[in-house]
Amino acid sequence: MIRSLLSVADLNSKEIEKIFKKMKSFKRKSYAKHKGKSIGLLFEKHSTRTRLSFEVAISRLGAYPIYINRSDTQISRGESIAETAKIFSLYLDALVYRTSDQKNMEEFEKFSTIPIINALSDLEHPTQIISDMFTIKDLSAKKRVENLKIAYFGDGNNIANSLCIISDILKLNLVICCPKGYEPNLNSLNITDSNVSIDHNPETAIENADVIYTDVWTSMGMEKEEKKRLRDFKKYQVNKEIASNANSSHIFMHCLPAHIDEEVTLEVLNSKNSIVYEQAENKVYAAMAILDFLLS
Ligand code: CP
Ligand code: NVA
Repeated sequence: MIRSLLSVADLNSKEIEKIFKKMKSFKRKSYAKHKGKSIGLLFEKHSTRTRLSFEVAISRLGAYPIYINRSDTQISRGESIAETAKIFSLYLDALVYRTSDQKNMEEFEKFSTIPIINALSDLEHPTQIISDMFTIKDLSAKKRVENLKIAYFGDGNNIANSLCIISDILKLNLVICCPKGYEPNLNSLNITDSNVSIDHNPETAIENADVIYTDVWTSMGMEKEEKKRLRDFKKYQVNKEIASNANSSHIFMHCLPAHIDEEVTLEVLNSKNSIVYEQAENKVYAAMAILDFLLS
């Protein structure tokens, strides 16, 4: 059966644990397990980390990465996603896809006979969050991850949605802290775990947090709303003052790229609590593990 990863919800807890195990093993040693395979990377939006980490991961697996800029393809001249998906399936063994609309991803998957991997959409960033959960587990070895308090500060879109879903599946304590009107829709995400909550008050959300996670206030494609967002999110910045109310041993996380002095100050980003580079490095192992899981 062809498996894709369009949402974190496409996996159950056992499968997520299996991916973590594969990440651990790939972190120790690379295996060229997928020699001769060709993996496409179709990107409709900018990317530094996700594109590069997947290209490196594909090479380390012995497969061949093919980067495809949407504007170079016939899609940009009107060829349908359905037709494109059928053609891609003839040439490729899997497709890593970044799009501004999750519906494009679903349409692509519907007409594909190869695994489709969500490399960020408006609704989710599953490979990022799987990687980040591994990072949290790895760095919190002494504490059970279920006992940690994770406080996410920022917009309730792709990163927050994927965080909510993984927290629901793995039964983690997650507080989403955002201004009114920017909450993730827990109903449409089918969140059943009562340990996933929304708090509009930064002081209570940060209290005793073991993990602080933030993301940009203005995501790619939302630039028109930037001015309003800067005003609405003003009191949700992760700075030294607010971070001092978290556990002193807390870790600070950001998927990056960061907008300095908006959602985070440089002081916090470069602080001893910050693990943003471990996070970025682990994206390679997550990409290897996810590809291996879907292709095996
Ligand atoms: N974190 C992340 O997805 O970064 P890029 O946009 O650089 O890929
Ligand atoms: N929320 C951000 C994540 C970037 C990795 C965006 O969509 O631009």
